[in-house]
Amino acid sequence: MSGIKIEVNIIEKITTVKEMQRHSDQLRYQGRSIALVPTMGFLHEGHLSLIRKGRTLCDDLVVSIFINPTQFGPGEDLEAYPRDLSRDIYLLKKEYVDVLFLPDAEELYTEGFQTYVELEKLPKHLCGLSRPTHFKGVSTVVTKLFNAVKPHFAIFGQKDYQQLIIIKRMVIDLNFDTEIIGFPIVRETDGLALSSRNAHLTDEQRPAALTLFKSLKKAEELVENGINDPATIIDAASNLILSYPETSIDYIKICDTKTLEEMVIIDREALMAIAVKVGKTRLIDNMMLHPLSEPV
Ligand code: PAJ
Repeated sequence: MSGIKIEVNIIEKITTVKEMQRHSDQLRYQGRSIALVPTMGFLHEGHLSLIRKGRTLCDDLVVSIFINPTQFGPGEDLEAYPRDLSRDIYLLKKEYVDVLFLPDAEELYTEGFQTYVELEKLPKHLCGLSRPTHFKGVSTVVTKLFNAVKPHFAIFGQKDYQQLIIIKRMVIDLNFDTEIIGFPIVRETDGLALSSRNAHLTDEQRPAALTLFKSLKKAEELVENGINDPATIIDAASNLILSYPETSIDYIKICDTKTLEEMVIIDREALMAIAVKVGKTRLIDNMMLHPLSEPV
């Protein structure tokens, strides 16, 4: 015997809704609190930051990995979406995650499926314009994950700001007994927002990908210098992005943080949100802008 103790963290893998519900019922009966971090896998530090936050909130931490087909439109990257389950499980064990909920598409979308959850207004802005069915898929799958896991808390990244406020609205509107926690964007040291889709970027495309962050920083600087006209800021951002090869802009918008309606003047906190394609890879990023004299 060498005397060296190797600690292996156990993670329970649950693949069916019924078993997940039974497990959560038992935990709730024992008075234990449950937090859920929903993901589509290919985990990175952004996901791990949500998982670490979740770990501080609850007794039992559940992470779901499910590449949700209903949130991908025709011609989008469902098939090409990056996957590496064994690496994901290794990372989840390191974070002391208790349960990995890993349903397959047949489990969540059974034969004859026809019930969706759809919000009226929030999905009609930003990403919803070029991905008209995306948020219907997101709100539906998150509802299904909540019904399976029955979490007290669920943690979502501000990287997908529109998704976060859609889920917050849905939880209020449909009286879910789950508290939604938003968590800040995690970036590479150079500023690129972490995303599973960054795996598709070539070394040559990386400088172009970084222009999302650079143009948000430029916007922040302009607003700090007293510029409050969205058109001027959006022009500066789009000139910067389009000066790099292989970029095409889906949108650059400055909008109200609650309704996502475009602002005509930045007279209060505003969300600047960007979606750009670099080659075939669609990237999103955002930042809050604060005018010099913000109403209190
Ligand atoms: P996915 O893209 O895997 O992201 C899972 C969660 O990680 C989301 O809440 C997302 O906002 C967050 N996230 C991604 N990149 C981040 C970063 N750089 N910093 C902080 N958080 C980050 O978003 C989805 O999956 C799906 O739409 C899902 C909610 C799972 C529904 O299918």
